[in-house]
Amino acid sequence: MQRIVKIESVDLNGQGVGHIDGKVTFIPFALPEELVDISLVKQKKSYNTARLDSVIQSSYIRVAPKCEYFGLCGGCLMQHMNPAAQVAIKQRALEDQLKHIGNVVPERIMAPIHGPYWKYRFRARLSVRYVQKKNQVLVGFRERNSRYVADMKSCQILPAHVSDLLPLLRVLIHNLSCYNRIPQIEVAVGSKTTVLVLRHLDELTQDDIDKLLEFAKANNISWWLQPKGPDTVHPLIPEEENLLFYDVPEFDLQMQFKPTDFTQVNHIVNRTLVSKAISYLDPKPNDRIIDLFCGLGNFTLPIARLAGQVIGVEGASSLTERATHIAQEHGLSCKTEFKTLNLFEVNTEWLRGLGRFDKVLIDPPREGALEISKALSSLSLDERPERVVYVSCNPATLARDAGIMVNVGKYKLKAAGVVNMFPHTGHVESIAIFE
Ligand SMILES: C[S@@+](CC[C@H](N)C(=O)[O-])C[C@H]1O[C@@H](n2cnc3c(N)ncnc32)[C@H](O)[C@@H]1O
Repeated sequence: MQRIVKIESVDLNGQGVGHIDGKVTFIPFALPEELVDISLVKQKKSYNTARLDSVIQSSYIRVAPKCEYFGLCGGCLMQHMNPAAQVAIKQRALEDQLKHIGNVVPERIMAPIHGPYWKYRFRARLSVRYVQKKNQVLVGFRERNSRYVADMKSCQILPAHVSDLLPLLRVLIHNLSCYNRIPQIEVAVGSKTTVLVLRHLDELTQDDIDKLLEFAKANNISWWLQPKGPDTVHPLIPEEENLLFYDVPEFDLQMQFKPTDFTQVNHIVNRTLVSKAISYLDPKPNDRIIDLFCGLGNFTLPIARLAGQVIGVEGASSLTERATHIAQEHGLSCKTEFKTLNLFEVNTEWLRGLGRFDKVLIDPPREGALEISKALSSLSLDERPERVVYVSCNPATLARDAGIMVNVGKYKLKAAGVVNMFPHTGHVESIAIFE
């Protein structure tokens, strides 16, 4: 059934939202204020989904998507909006969630942290599938709303040299003996080296290895192999173990990492994020600071350049070991200490046991930092750190934790803002400052 609908808003999946006979209707690729011609696809009890047939009156935020696979690939669902509008939508989502989930309102909204809109994804997991019907190997991201791999030969958000590898990887994998037993390739781009991690379900033959080596030489990459679980990841050439690092030039740091370690996806925005987070934290030479969910010390080591002492806490021992090593390499061992601990299982006694901290940085995974927020909120006033800078990749858990810090702990939410870490996608990275 065809209908004409006026679009009222847009969600983080790039779906326009309107109403048909009072029922909310989601229309992928339609934008606010647009008048669109749609066909209903599904009619559920409380909502409809529809297909956009044509735009009758177009929004001023609509732009032509740069990627030829837009709509097919599930990777970037916001490419039809100009980047400033994408950021505004993410900012609105952050404010809404803070209000509705946490019942908090920041005193100030910070200017968004921007970076490049294209070629920014320095870490990615590419799916690989042999498709018998096409007698082809596909390498890329999943299709929108599907488990199929998109038939794509380029990607606008991967660095150009990685995008250029996509068609070459299709041919390479098809020529391996186990061409239909390769489920994924992980990409990790460092400042000087690009690593590809090949997950292979069957053993590789010598001929396969020769082909991989030839490809690596021709394309200036380094292969790592993953025959089984994550702890079996190893470099094909053992001497290439320590080639990956990213620079944080403002703090004169080279952060060495392994291709499957957690690192921020967008190294350029990461530099600005680290710089801003540290200026909000404002470390002083006598400050004692704690960095929770510290990974390989992305914030800990820059803080150590300015503060008296920093403790980094993280769940993965491989990361705290690497962080300790990077601190040594940069002469920061005397100011830093790294602890390995499950931060979802801590309490006030644990926090109190570490002694008093002047400031705290928190950068949790999507699940947030519930136990930490509760522990911070139940310290007495003179035990409390004066400032908490919270970096978040999920506004819903940030909002929940902010609700605890403000409504139970009586912290003030001084400011919050978005970080455009993942342009064209619905991911919302943000930063919040509590005092
Ligand atoms: C968003 S990352 C931030 C890492 C680091 N701050 C950075 O900027 O690179 C979240 C980190 O939390 C760690 N993590 C996840 N679950 C954890 C847990 N239960 N306890 C402690 N650390 C955890 C992950 O290993 C990861 O390093």
